Amino acid sequence: MHSPFTNFAAALVLALSATAFAINVEAAASDPILAGFAESAKASTPGFTGFSAERGKRLFLSKQTSGKPETPSCTTCHGNSPQSRGQTRADKPIEPMALSHTPNRYSDPKKVAKWFRRNCKSVLGRECTALEKGDFITFMATQ
Ligand code: HEC
Repeated sequence: MHSPFTNFAAALVLALSATAFAINVEAAASDPILAGFAESAKASTPGFTGFSAERGKRLFLSKQTSGKPETPSCTTCHGNSPQSRGQTRADKPIEPMALSHTPNRYSDPKKVAKWFRRNCKSVLGRECTALEKGDFITFMATQ
């Protein structure tokens, strides 16, 4: 038998998860784009089980040798901290990449596609995969 307390606790858990879901949906303008990458990643990555903020962090911070020598890392322009501004090679400021600091990021499909294409080519010497793009945005959404 369920005691009144267990029933109350169960109702509370339900109410809380409903709230969390609502907040989640409201907060993330990047969700549709992320869902698109998830669809592609599922099709192209055997054993895909979801994006990883940890992998996204590694992509953001790692030093590459396959791209242009003057842009070895995403951090070359975006800076080491997702919460801080970066700067272009011509010293123009770039707003922080963390979604919490620049909430309109990763919401315009054209902008996202254009800059991933361009920046991944500069840094990695190739386009990023759907998995890498999803991991990157997932990492920035936790920052
Ligand atoms: C040569 C400088 C430079 C490098 C290196 C660079 N970026 Fe960028 N990035 C920019 C600029 C400039 C913008 C556009 C301005 C803005 O969005 O504030 C941008 C924008 C982006 C956007 C679009 C964000 C949005 O608001 O939708 C993504 C995604 C992105 N970069 C990912 C990366 C990744 C991943 C790497 C590393 C593989 C990287 N960038 C490396 C300069 C760079």
